[in-house]
Amino acid sequence: MLSLTAVGEHVTNRSAKTCLYRCGNQCAHPVPNTSANSYFGDMIAAAVSRRSVVRGAAGAALISTLAWSTAENAYAAPGRGKPTMAGFEPIAPTPNHVDDVVVPEGYAWTPVISWGDPVEPGAPDFDVHNQSVEAQKRQAGYNADYLALRRGGAGNNAANKGLLIFNNEYTNPELMFPDYDEANGPTAEQAAIEMAAHGMTIVEVRRQGQFAPWTYDRHGARNRRIHAWTPFHVDGPAAGAEWMRTSADPSGRTVLGTLNNCAGGETPWGTSLSGEENFNQYFNTTGTADPDGRLARYGIQSSGRGWERADGRFMVSSEPNEVNRFGWIVEVDADDPTSTPVKHTALGRFKHEGATIRIATDGRAVAYMGDDERYDYVYKFVSKGTYRKGDKAHNKTLLSEGDLYVARFDGDGLGDGEWDGTGVWLPLVVDGTSHVPGWSVAEVLTWTRQAADLVGPTKMDRPEDVEPNPHTGHVYLALTNNTSRRPAEIDEANPRASNKHGHIIEWREAGNDAAALEFSWRIVLLAGQPNDPTTYFNGFDRRLVSPISCPDNVAFDSEPDHLWISTDGAPGTLGTCDGMFLMPTDGPDKGKVQQFLSVPAGAECCGPVVEWTDRSVLICVQHPGDGLPSSYPYLGDPVPRPGVAHIYRPNGRGTGS
Ligand code: FEO
Ligand code: CA
Ligand code: CA
Repeated sequence: MLSLTAVGEHVTNRSAKTCLYRCGNQCAHPVPNTSANSYFGDMIAAAVSRRSVVRGAAGAALISTLAWSTAENAYAAPGRGKPTMAGFEPIAPTPNHVDDVVVPEGYAWTPVISWGDPVEPGAPDFDVHNQSVEAQKRQAGYNADYLALRRGGAGNNAANKGLLIFNNEYTNPELMFPDYDEANGPTAEQAAIEMAAHGMTIVEVRRQGQFAPWTYDRHGARNRRIHAWTPFHVDGPAAGAEWMRTSADPSGRTVLGTLNNCAGGETPWGTSLSGEENFNQYFNTTGTADPDGRLARYGIQSSGRGWERADGRFMVSSEPNEVNRFGWIVEVDADDPTSTPVKHTALGRFKHEGATIRIATDGRAVAYMGDDERYDYVYKFVSKGTYRKGDKAHNKTLLSEGDLYVARFDGDGLGDGEWDGTGVWLPLVVDGTSHVPGWSVAEVLTWTRQAADLVGPTKMDRPEDVEPNPHTGHVYLALTNNTSRRPAEIDEANPRASNKHGHIIEWREAGNDAAALEFSWRIVLLAGQPNDPTTYFNGFDRRLVSPISCPDNVAFDSEPDHLWISTDGAPGTLGTCDGMFLMPTDGPDKGKVQQFLSVPAGAECCGPVVEWTDRSVLICVQHPGDGLPSSYPYLGDPVPRPGVAHIYRPNGRGTGS
C-alpha cells in the first residue's frame, strides 16, 4: 500500500500534479480558516479515545482471524460468486497502476465523449499536435467532474435521447501539451487554450435501446461549450457592488467565464447548477497587499498559473476586483444554447463544491452547498419565492433572492454508541437583512467565509457533495478528508484526527422540511481499509465490505435506499484506483459498501449518474494519467483524454435483482 505522498512541505492523498493544477496546492498553504470558532473537541476526544480502545480490541480480533494483507485483502470481493441484492457482484479493489475501467461481470463500458471531441459547429476533430484556442472553444473541455443526463429530445423515441451536461473543472497542461515547459509554465497561447478548456460542455446523446450505450451527436442542436470568455450575468444582492466592478465591466454585472467548476446539481425546473471551486489558483497576487486578510481567507496568495500572459485580468495588482467575480454558484439553462448563464450572488461566495436543490414544504427552493476547504463550512440557501411547477421562467428567478445559513453540528456525546447529534442553521442573511453585525448583505455574500466565521459554525473535514435523497429528503454530506485535523480539534461530527479517508454524514431536517432551521444528524460512514478499527459502515459487518477512501460525489437512483459514492484519493491512501461504490441506506444491507467500478490509473471518479432500472451508469473519468501512466480512453492518442464513460449491461438487468 502506498504511503502518503510528500509534496513540498505538505502531505496529501493526491499526486503532486493534481494538487498543483486542481486546487493550487491548497493543502500546502496555511489553513485559511484561522477563526476562533471552537472545536467541541476536548470532551469528545476523551470519549472517542475510550471508544477507540474498545473498537480497537475488536479490530485486533478481526485481524488475527482473517489475516489481513493489503489492498488485496480478505475484503477483496465481498459476495463474490453469488449475486448480491444490489444486482451486481462487487469488483475487487484495483491496484492503482491498472490502466482500465473495471466493471462487474456482465457489464460493459464505452467512452461517450472525451476532451477535444468536436461539440459546436466548425470544430475540428481532436489532434493533440494541432491544438488552438478557436478549436478548443468548440471542442469538449478538459477534466470532467459534475455530470447530468437530461432525458428526452425532439421527435420520436425521446426515451432514447438526452442532453449530457458536464463541468470541465481544471486543466493538466503537462498532460495536454506534448511540448509543455513545466519549468516556465504555459506560453500565452497554451494558457489561452487552457482557458478555453475550462467551463462546461453540453451535448446531445442518443442510444439504440434501453440497455444500449449512449453516444453523443457532434451535430446536436443544443450542443454548447461554455468557457473562460463566455459572458455570465451577475444577479442577486452583490451584483453591481463596487468590488464587482472592473475596467472591462464598470457595471459589475457581466463576468467573462466560469472557473474550476466542480460538482453541481439539476434543478426541478430544468436548469443545471455548477460550483466555482478553487478559483483562487488562477490569480497572480504578486505585488498585492492584503491588509484585511480577505485574499488569504480564500487562499488567493500565489503567482497563479501564468494565465495573465493570455489575459491581464488574472493579475490582481492591475485588476484587483476580477477575483471577486469568481467563487459563485452558476445556473445554466442547457435547453437554450443561446441563453446567458447566471452567477447567483445570493448563494454566497466560497469554494463552492456544488449545489443541490430540494423543494421545502411551503414550496421554497432550498440549495445545499459545501465549501471544500479544510475546516470550512456547510451552507444552505432558502429562496424567497416559491416553486411553480411548469413555470420555468419564474423558477429561474428563485435563486436570485433568499436567505443564507451556515451549519453548526452539535454532538450529543458517544455514550449512545453513535457519532450523532443535532444541528442548527445559523442565519447569515434573512429577509434581506444581514445577521452579521456591521456587515452589509452584499459584504456577507461576497466574503461569506469571513462572515460565517463570526457566527460560530462547525469546522468540517472538507465538505464536498451535499445532496438530498429525492425519495426520503434525508441529506448526505461527503467529507472527503482532512489530514490537518489534530487530536485536540476533533468533534463528534469530525471525529478522526489526521482524517485521510473521510466520512459521510446523514441528516434529517426537522419535520423533514428542507427549510427547517434545526436538524438531527449521524455519521453513516467512516471510510478506510475495513481492518482499520476507526472505520464504520453504518453498523454493517466490516469483514464484508469493500475498502473505500475519500468520498467525493454522492448520487441516488430509482431505489430509495441506494446511495452511490464516488471517490477521489484512493491511489494515495489505499494504493488502489478510485471508483464508485453502492452503500444502501436502509434494509438488510444497510452500510454494506460494495465497489461497482474502478477508474483508470491516476484518475478520480466523478459525477455519477445512475439509472438503475436501465442498469446504466455514467461517470466522469477525471485526470487519467495524473502521476501514473494512462492511455484512457484508449483511442490511440499519445495523451490521456479525460471525459465521460458509460457503463451498461448489454443483456439487460440479468439476474440478481
Ligand atoms: Fe473539485 Fe471538492 O472537489
Ligand atoms: Ca452520539
Ligand atoms: Ca469534488
